[in-house]
Amino acid sequence: MKENNKIFLRNAKLSDAEKLYHWRNSDSVRKNSFSPNPITYDEHLKWLKKALKMPSRYIFIATLSAEDIGVTRLDITNNSAEISIYLAPNKISQGLGKPLLSATIYWCENNLPNIKKLTAKILPENKRSQKLFEKSGFTLQTLEYTKTINGNNTYE
Ligand SMILES: CC(C)(COP(=O)(O)OP(=O)(O)OC[C@H]1O[C@@H](n2cnc3c(N)ncnc32)[C@H](O)[C@@H]1OP(=O)(O)O)[C@@H](O)C(=O)NCCC(=O)NCCS
Repeated sequence: MKENNKIFLRNAKLSDAEKLYHWRNSDSVRKNSFSPNPITYDEHLKWLKKALKMPSRYIFIATLSAEDIGVTRLDITNNSAEISIYLAPNKISQGLGKPLLSATIYWCENNLPNIKKLTAKILPENKRSQKLFEKSGFTLQTLEYTKTINGNNTYE
């Protein structure tokens, strides 16, 4: 990690709600999200209050030179943690994704010794994120196919 890209993680707090809301509803985050619809501030607040109390969830605000620049989240199941990551809209495409992911992995290794596996779910069109995770040592394990059914299928 370059010294000028030194990223620190701090626990998200309820007072981060407004900033998180704007980032979560930004185009760059929504278009790469599994839940792309805009959300209301009330929905967001309800989600955040619950999320901050969950023992299996860690939400961090990443800071660079005292500026908040993005978010990472860890969701723990047994010995595995699923990582979600995003940068503030004005911080995308500046090479900050790699140190942000690296800081998250480092935190996990140093604070959650039971975690032996890290996972991430990425949309097929999100090539930037795929490249980021691959460059950080993640390998593709499964391809998930889905189909919406509405009662119009015939038996063949
Ligand atoms: C995903 C994200 C964290 C990546 O961080 P970033 O700093 O913007 O990423 P970078 O600009 O360093 O790009 C990562 C790599 O992808 C490459 N890349 C960018 N666009 C690409 C594209 N369309 N196709 C292939 N590779 C691409 C970059 O060249 C870079 O590779 P390099 O390091 O070899 O040059 C950030 O873009 C983001 O927050 N996006 C919105 C939310 C999101 O998608 N989150 C991930 C959900 S799983």
